[in-house]
Amino acid sequence: MDSPGVLLVFFLLPLLLCFPGGAPDLEADRAALLAFQAAVGRGELLWNASATPCSWVGVRCNGGRVTRIRLPATRLVGQIPAGTLGNLTALQVVSLRLNALSGPLPPDLASCKELRIVYLQGNRFSGEIPAGLFSLDKLVLLNLAINNFTGGISPGFNNLTRLETLHLEHNQLSGEIPDLHLPTLVQFNVSFNPLNGSIPAGLRRMSSDAFLGTGLCGLPLRACSPMHEKSKLSGDAIAGIAIGAVVGFLIVAALLVILCRRGRGSKRTANVEAPRESERALRGSGAVQNENGLAAEKVGLSRYGQSLVFLKPGPKVYDLEDLLGASAAVLGRGTTGTTYKAMLETGMVVAVKRLKDVNLPEEEFREKVEAIGAMDHPNLVPLHAFYRSKDEKLLVYDYIPMGSLSSVLHGNRGAGWTPLDWETRSGIALAAARGIEYIHSIGSEVSHGNIKSSNILLGNSFEAHVSDYSLANLVSPSDTPSHAACYRAPEVTDAQKVSQKADVYSFGVLLLELLTGKPPMQGFHDEGGPDLPRWVQSVVQEEWISEVFDLGLLRYQNVEEEMVQLLQVGIDCAAQYPDKRPSMSQVVIQIEEVHRSSLASMGRNHQQDHHAIGDADDQSSKLTDSIEES
Ligand SMILES: *[C@@H]1O[C@H](CO)[C@@H](O)[C@H](O)[C@H]1NC(C)=O
Ligand SMILES: *[C@@H]1O[C@H](CO)[C@@H](O)[C@H](O)[C@H]1NC(C)=O
Ligand SMILES: *[C@@H]1O[C@H](CO)[C@@H](O)[C@H](O)[C@H]1NC(C)=O
Ligand SMILES: *[C@@H]1O[C@H](CO)[C@@H](O)[C@H](O)[C@H]1NC(C)=O
Ligand SMILES: *[C@@H]1O[C@H](CO)[C@@H](O)[C@H](O)[C@H]1NC(C)=O
Ligand SMILES: *[C@@H]1O[C@H](CO)[C@@H](O)[C@H](O)[C@H]1NC(C)=O
Repeated sequence: MDSPGVLLVFFLLPLLLCFPGGAPDLEADRAALLAFQAAVGRGELLWNASATPCSWVGVRCNGGRVTRIRLPATRLVGQIPAGTLGNLTALQVVSLRLNALSGPLPPDLASCKELRIVYLQGNRFSGEIPAGLFSLDKLVLLNLAINNFTGGISPGFNNLTRLETLHLEHNQLSGEIPDLHLPTLVQFNVSFNPLNGSIPAGLRRMSSDAFLGTGLCGLPLRACSPMHEKSKLSGDAIAGIAIGAVVGFLIVAALLVILCRRGRGSKRTANVEAPRESERALRGSGAVQNENGLAAEKVGLSRYGQSLVFLKPGPKVYDLEDLLGASAAVLGRGTTGTTYKAMLETGMVVAVKRLKDVNLPEEEFREKVEAIGAMDHPNLVPLHAFYRSKDEKLLVYDYIPMGSLSSVLHGNRGAGWTPLDWETRSGIALAAARGIEYIHSIGSEVSHGNIKSSNILLGNSFEAHVSDYSLANLVSPSDTPSHAACYRAPEVTDAQKVSQKADVYSFGVLLLELLTGKPPMQGFHDEGGPDLPRWVQSVVQEEWISEVFDLGLLRYQNVEEEMVQLLQVGIDCAAQYPDKRPSMSQVVIQIEEVHRSSLASMGRNHQQDHHAIGDADDQSSKLTDSIEES
């Protein structure tokens, strides 16, 4: 009679043994996260227990499981118990950096077999690096810097065959570094640990400042003291070594002489190829020799006797005659016309754009230009005045001194050239996004229409101003192929009709250009190869850090995560289908988040006492305020 029950138990038992707590699913993940919140959240982690965990701050899901946790600088305090993080077996990315987490890492972290990216720097973790970590063979990035880990560096790291980034600096790790063979390792740092012994062969290719503040010796640092071995050697051997050393010295000296000569030779050619970048950046893409470009038109213009129409309130400090009498230099030639830098006799400098191919009737032209003149936002280049005659259409803008983002990013990288730093780049991204968001806020049909890096102009402290907005529907489309095509969304067929979603696409390409340092020109990879967005997507996400980012950004290890986040925003914007792209206001919110979080990381990094979490928070809020103000 009771055989069906027995049978049921018989079949269920193995299942129950496999999954003692039931199969891992979103409900199990929720329970684990709530236990994590109760243990270290200190009541400040506001997760709504009745909503899905996938909607919680810092939590991301994929395929019905929790795959990412990002809670940087969120005042987490205390020890992470077993049965919390360790139960999130689908976890791929975890970032708990800049908190006050302490005690040993939970040993069951080893159950998170999918972990690829782990940021735990800037906490108070202690104890040994748990051996379980070395079974996580998908790890690409492990950052345990600025903690209180003790014990040795295990040879178990050799199991992490995909590891590209390993940060262990500022801990209490001691003893010798075992022979590590990690061919994929690109970034490595064990500075400020009481390590000793010689640097193993597999790590000699790292730079010497990966080993600062340690007792290590050997390449790339000073040679290990040979005293010990030498005393054991016989007189003959010493004589042999001495002769060998003399011969060796002569060979090295000869090589040095040859190398120096070659080095000098190649430097000379490098100088010839690379004109001074500072000059180029300051003057934009300008052909400076074209002085009096505007004055040359003077005769043709003044015949009409019309005057400038001013679009902004305030004193009119110049008139058409002043403008035409100004000496001018070409700043750039684009699809909408040529822009000059005009230096008035009063010393004032303005930018003047000569539109080409305007076929609009006067009334319509006036209306459209007045609408552009009415736009007013700190991240737009203001349009002050215009002039219209039958043959000539001029727009007068503020002159922005540092030239375009395009020339700063891709200008010749000669001597004295420094790449834009991360703070500048993320600041430019945010400012440009805000300018474009403003344009979109005017009305659903209003768009920029021509977003590209040569239309982002930089002020003296690299603050970004968007230029050339809403000009696309003033001028007739030209047939000449241009760089603009690489920024154009796939659905755009008429360059005069660019939707807001198409602007978002162009902005996405611009973001990718800013982060990769690569111009999005056609045939960018090879002739006929993928465009910039497709290329970035073709590189697997884990390799972004080493493969995709501009070399000038690789030294910002403490903001890698933000860099990856911003890259993701760029990719989302450059989605193939318009309805998959975010709106510009969503983009602004996302970039603000990245910017705030990276300022918190940088602020944190600047201060010496890395255990004063309260101070770090004070610092980040001050910096955040200053962004809000700017
Ligand atoms: C974690 O998983 C174990 C084993 O499946 C289970 O016993 C425990 O209750 C889980 N922890 C939480 C907080 O759900
Ligand atoms: C929590 O989530 C539930 C379900 O989504 C919702 O009804 C409720 O308003 C939320 N509570 C708070 C405080 O946000
Ligand atoms: C770091 O660990 C050492 C030894 O375990 C301990 O004495 C010290 O107090 C710890 N420091 C901090 C800031 O936790
Ligand atoms: C490293 O991998 C080997 C083989 O996969 C395994 O036997 C060993 O236990 C691993 N070592 C550690 C420390 O996990
Ligand atoms: C490194 O330091 C440890 C402990 O301080 C010591 O026992 C060991 O001999 C040292 N090794 C070398 C190569 O100096
Ligand atoms: C390693 O970390 C130290 C301390 O933060 C830093 O000064 C050094 O520049 C870093 N070196 C490398 C190669 O990352």
